[in-house]
Amino acid sequence: MFASKCVPLKADSKLCATGLTLVTGSAGRVGKAVCAELNKRRIPVRGFDRVPTPDVADAIVGTITDPADVRRAMTGVTTLIHLAACPDDVEDVSGELLPANINGLYQIMEAARAQNVRRYILASSGQVNWWHNQSGPWPIDAQDPISPKYWYAATKMFMESIGRGFHETHGASVIIARLGWCPRTKAQVEEIAASAWAQDVYLSPGDAGRFFGCCVEAPESLTHTILYATSRPLRTLLYDLETTRKEIGWEPLEHWPQGIDIILNNSTR
Ligand SMILES: NC(=O)c1ccc[n+]([C@@H]2O[C@H](COP(=O)([O-])OP(=O)(O)OC[C@H]3O[C@@H](n4cnc5c(N)ncnc54)[C@H](O)[C@@H]3O)[C@@H](O)[C@H]2O)c1
Repeated sequence: MFASKCVPLKADSKLCATGLTLVTGSAGRVGKAVCAELNKRRIPVRGFDRVPTPDVADAIVGTITDPADVRRAMTGVTTLIHLAACPDDVEDVSGELLPANINGLYQIMEAARAQNVRRYILASSGQVNWWHNQSGPWPIDAQDPISPKYWYAATKMFMESIGRGFHETHGASVIIARLGWCPRTKAQVEEIAASAWAQDVYLSPGDAGRFFGCCVEAPESLTHTILYATSRPLRTLLYDLETTRKEIGWEPLEHWPQGIDIILNNSTR
């Protein structure tokens, strides 16, 4: 049975009080879906992106590598969803990937700490399990050894490590979200259409939005966890979704190719 919002957790679970949630990368593929879902749940949301964010009243344009922009975006925030990043491997590693995914992360995390942000929800990737990903055994879970694909996945491991450090050092509540594949372009939709494996790691925009909504609303007792998120696999369960269901009450409602209309209607590539 699949839930329409979050599956009810234990009756005594106190939900994380939802003050203002900052969504970095709010104008991106995942960010737009997350902001729409938070709006639907009436969770106060602020967007932050280097380009304007559609349909979010409180949205800041700035870069995560600029400390002044980041401080401005972080004012009054209690929950952080950090999505802004270079979202895959690129030619220009030192000019594009490292500034956003390492320095940008540093700026965001330290500004959040200064603001006493209570919950950090950090977008990682199934690419941290890449080599294991291709061969199994499945489902892969957070106890399995990591095997990052390349530089992009290595930056996500860096992010996961500092997330753990923030939990241990500062007592922050940290949720590491290892996401499946939510395609950004028509070309990526075509790649998924041609691959049985990719269809099983597909993450629809709707499921992605609901996943982050459940992360924001998860109980205060959730202090540090690594969770996987994909839509419902057509053939093989590649990532552990049971822990996700237990810890934040989320389960996917869709499967490939549900939700691709949202991507195709927004893609020029
Ligand atoms: N889409 C996926 O399949 C997928 C899978 C695993 C992990 N992720 C992660 O999820 C997050 C969101 O991915 P997405 O698919 O929405 O990517 P996206 O490229 O669609 O969105 C990223 C957004 O971040 C913004 N951004 C980038 N650099 C910035 C900077 N320096 N300052 C401010 N904003 C900046 C971009 O303008 C963009 O709107 C990323 O961290 C990505 O690594 C995505």
